[in-house]
Amino acid sequence: MFSLFMRRDGLIDPPAFGEVDSHCHVLPGLDDGAPDERTALAISRVLVEMGVRTVVATPHVISDVYPNSTLQILEKCNNLRASLKDHELPLTLIPGAEYYVEKELLSRIERDDLLCFGEDRCVLFEAPIEHEPLLLDDVVFQLKSAGYTPVLAHVERYRYLHDNPDRVVELRRQGVKIQVNHPSFFLPKTSRRGEAARRLYVKGQVDLLGTDMHRATAEDVRLVAQGDHLFFARMAGRS
Ligand SMILES: [Fe+2]
Repeated sequence: MFSLFMRRDGLIDPPAFGEVDSHCHVLPGLDDGAPDERTALAISRVLVEMGVRTVVATPHVISDVYPNSTLQILEKCNNLRASLKDHELPLTLIPGAEYYVEKELLSRIERDDLLCFGEDRCVLFEAPIEHEPLLLDDVVFQLKSAGYTPVLAHVERYRYLHDNPDRVVELRRQGVKIQVNHPSFFLPKTSRRGEAARRLYVKGQVDLLGTDMHRATAEDVRLVAQGDHLFFARMAGRS
């Protein structure tokens, strides 16, 4: 899927991003992502400059913090689509979500209230950073049984996977796809997150790339127009 280059400084050249962003907090006013339409349009401009043609809008869905309903996400998506058209931004917006591993997610699967994307019916979900949740295997099993493809978000971030790479192999064997945040490739060798992203990539375990972009400004748009590397290094530094 990706080609691999080793650089003189020992880091690897990151994979080309491609035309699809599978993880982005572009929808305004739903979570800690874009607070308003202006920011949503700045994020969209950055994506267009990167060569992205399709973005899956994935606001957090966490029952106590961001209890976004499917209907709310669809409405926001329709509104932003209209704005993209008004501003002549050639970006296809697909409604999705970043579901948190919790009991409510099991209920959603049960009542078939999920936003998915792609032919494989991918469902993006995230877990806590510090400790593997007890419900993880259950969520994976239920999603698979319901005909979805579970996609674990920003896998390079989970500390319990840094020390246990076999767990990634096991999750993939269970049918989980691995999503990595592209900016993580630009973190230095001293960063465990950066090293985890690179290790996953070298082992051929990266299935989907995302920006996980929450914000962007006009300056970001200018920066990305000068070169993706400059922009991603900056984004990695602030995430
Ligand atoms: Fe995210």
